[in-house]
Amino acid sequence: MPELNLVLLGPPGSGKGTQGERLQEDLRLPYYATGDILRAAVREGTELGRTAKEYMDRGDLVPDEVIVGAIAERIDSEEAADGFILDGFPRTVPQAEALAAKLDELGRGLTGVLLIDADDDEVMRRLGGRRTCVENGHVFHVDFNPPEREGVCDVDGGELVVRDDDKPEVIRHRLDQYHAKTEPLIEFYDHQSLLRRIDGAAAPDEVADELSRTLSTLKLEADEAI
Ligand code: AP5
Repeated sequence: MPELNLVLLGPPGSGKGTQGERLQEDLRLPYYATGDILRAAVREGTELGRTAKEYMDRGDLVPDEVIVGAIAERIDSEEAADGFILDGFPRTVPQAEALAAKLDELGRGLTGVLLIDADDDEVMRRLGGRRTCVENGHVFHVDFNPPEREGVCDVDGGELVVRDDDKPEVIRHRLDQYHAKTEPLIEFYDHQSLLRRIDGAAAPDEVADELSRTLSTLKLEADEAI
């Protein structure tokens, strides 16, 4: 069985976290979401968290060297030997180059990069209504995916809050950062024939179905390449 090394790419609020949670259950692979890793570090008050907080609150990307090491050590771990799902990394061309170098060093490579796309207006609507569980980061939306009890996470009963970077002016800045620094990765990975485009504007179940079909094709291609 070939390993499955996947990247979820896309603008803030396109549904990477929503779909990543489902993929993690379906594929039983470790799921590394850099936003979740950084928010946990902020909560725990580690050096990584103290460095990252001011960038995150402004909606800026944290410096490449801060995040690259955190991902490299996870990819190199025993639990990721059969594959992994990355969400929110890489986000710049230097991060993508660092990831390629690390995988190369381990004699591995990416299986596919899944671009979940949505336009800026849709992102503003989604992030404006997002509620996030303080315990484990499960996400809900006041209109599109409301919790059964207002303010309470359906999964683990944690409190649902508005993320500090989900204020309208910060969302706009995060979108600017995405267009300037992350969007060039679309061409970067398309050029390597790794990119697969998923319409993130569809309903969550339809996005999940399209992802599932795309993964089946990727697995077939990986099998044939052995
Ligand atoms: P991060 O946490 O990664 O934020 P993001 O990429 O901006 O992504 P989001 O979590 O906002 O959105 P999502 O695509 O996961 O959407 P979701 O599923 O929640 O990063 C935060 C910060 O950390 C960055 O700004 C940066 O500072 C730093 N950082 C992280 N990684 C970094 C890196 N590699 N380098 C440097 N800095 C880094 O969905 C959004 C909402 O829409 C939810 O309410 C959901 O219920 C709803 N929804 C989802 N899908 C649908 C649908 N199909 N239809 C209707 N509603 C939907």
